[in-house]
Amino acid sequence: MCGIVGYNGTMQAAPILLEGLEKLEYRGYDSSGLAIRDGAKDIEIVKAKGRLRVLAEKTDEGMALAGNCGIGHTRWATHGEPSETNAHPHVSEDRNVVGVHNGIIENYQELKEKLQRHDYTFYSETDTEIAIKLIDYYMKKYREGPVDSIARAMTRIRGSYALVVMFKDYPDEIYCARKDSPLIVGVTEDASFAASDVPAILKYTRNVYYIGNQQIARLGKGTAEFFDIDREAVEIEPSEIKWDAEAAEKGGFEHFMIKEIHEQPAAVRDTIGSLVQDGKIVYGESGLTDEIIRNTSEILIVACGSAYHVGLAAQYVFEGLARIPVRVELASEFRYRNPILNQNDLVVVISQSGETADSLAALRLAKESGIRTLGIINVVGSSIAREADHVFYTLAGPEIAVATTKAYSAQLIVAYALAIQYAYVRGQIDEDRYTAMIAEIQTLPAKMERVLDDKERIQWFAAKYSNAKDMFFIGRGIDYAISMEGSLKMKEISYVHSEAYAAGELKHGTISLVENGTLVVGVCTQNRLFEKTRSNMVEVKSRGAYLMGLTSYGNYSIEDTADFTVYVPKTDEYFMTSLAIIPLQLLGYYLSVARGLNVDKPRNLAKSVTVE
Ligand code: AGP
Ligand code: GLU
Repeated sequence: MCGIVGYNGTMQAAPILLEGLEKLEYRGYDSSGLAIRDGAKDIEIVKAKGRLRVLAEKTDEGMALAGNCGIGHTRWATHGEPSETNAHPHVSEDRNVVGVHNGIIENYQELKEKLQRHDYTFYSETDTEIAIKLIDYYMKKYREGPVDSIARAMTRIRGSYALVVMFKDYPDEIYCARKDSPLIVGVTEDASFAASDVPAILKYTRNVYYIGNQQIARLGKGTAEFFDIDREAVEIEPSEIKWDAEAAEKGGFEHFMIKEIHEQPAAVRDTIGSLVQDGKIVYGESGLTDEIIRNTSEILIVACGSAYHVGLAAQYVFEGLARIPVRVELASEFRYRNPILNQNDLVVVISQSGETADSLAALRLAKESGIRTLGIINVVGSSIAREADHVFYTLAGPEIAVATTKAYSAQLIVAYALAIQYAYVRGQIDEDRYTAMIAEIQTLPAKMERVLDDKERIQWFAAKYSNAKDMFFIGRGIDYAISMEGSLKMKEISYVHSEAYAAGELKHGTISLVENGTLVVGVCTQNRLFEKTRSNMVEVKSRGAYLMGLTSYGNYSIEDTADFTVYVPKTDEYFMTSLAIIPLQLLGYYLSVARGLNVDKPRNLAKSVTVE
């Protein structure tokens, strides 16, 4: 998620905070805000939608806000659209508690109801406001200090958070708490800093304290004390940051793309957290209902690029589980071919940016035809999110690299959840299968981590093939959908011409292109199609191809055919895309690096294609 900066020292805080937030701009955001205090005087708060420049101008580059203690935030909205009201900092009614937050409060609705029962009211749509008021609630109920009140709130909150908080009655202190979201502390002789990432404070110190999970920090002017959730003091050893500023932006990774490939387990975990509660799939604020599901006659998935490839994989899952007809359409084709639509169809538009021109036009065409629409979107408040009848957000956070990875993986999760829910509500799977599939989805983040542990083997293989001129990715069923995304990743970042092909279709012409040394990646994760695809791999091998196999552990017979094999953990075959795509993302990435290309910003490409 986005950017947090806190400062408690002897200099004017606002300019320091603004500068720190600027260093975090690369992480993507939609609004920002500052809270500054000058000793025991009232805390001043200024917020702004849009670029950080707007906030800087509103505060005369921070000079209009006097005080040497404060917090700042750049928001990447997850709950409540981008707006000044929803921007952070958020406050309790009497400004007893003022705070900023990166992350997702999963049980925000139940906490909101609890607070409403104690006469709390809410001015924003955010989950963060609820967390801030929960701290206020405990402080007033038990009449304890900040550490106790924060600790009590932490025991009730489910989800991820990096919280930085100020308290009206504690003018010379800043408090921090974290679980899963990044938060670090820096200390100099006369000041202390909090930040969600190193670049924000690198100018002042290279010695940082990484606050542990479910730990709390109290920051004074040049001091930092740490506590665990039981309010016991804990010691944290400082770490020295050796990265330069640019490397720090990527968290020590060489490129945003490899950083985001590694963020996929967390993106999937956060997205699952928004879709599954108490072992069941929930509709959240989407407005979807069982009745709509029961009445759906056909699903049309409309998207572009990688989002379209999510649709290809989802089609097998929906049709296989829910036995409902699914069509997958390229948005740029759908919008011009006068599609045949029926009143009870559901048009599902998948889009990371929520601004892709073709996908937005397809959505509008469906709505003009009176067809119900549902968006699977990563950017809260984006055009498609605002105009679709129903929205399920992926919680991948800002995706900086042009080539999508973590948003793609998060979109798959939403598609699986909807397919399982359709299957259950329409009586195609029983309670046991429903529960088992949901439980299996929850194992995916850990299994994705295991695939990432194997990345060196793929790096070696990619370096070996850095001069490849032509590649094929072949597979059947879901493996064909996986091949489509693997091929796009290869083309868009390494500029190697590649083609994804239905393995059974090769012999109808294209196999004539296979010659000595052609690299073919055979994707065979679907057991009932394994032998069929392997036969196709033998066909191309006999014509000189160099074969990479991609399958799940246990299918070791593949090594009789493939020259090099990558294995991924087993999972329900409907979910294999989530695991098998990672080696292909890494293959494209490492090949691009080996060729010295601009991985994060490939030639001719834009992160969001807002023109047709
Ligand atoms: C994916 O790596 C590409 N950057 C591109 O195909 C992308 O998926 C496509 O442009 C759709 O973008 P969207 O998800 O923002 O609509
Ligand atoms: N979930 C919070 C919100 O939507 C914080 C988002 C962030 O990490 O920026 O406001």
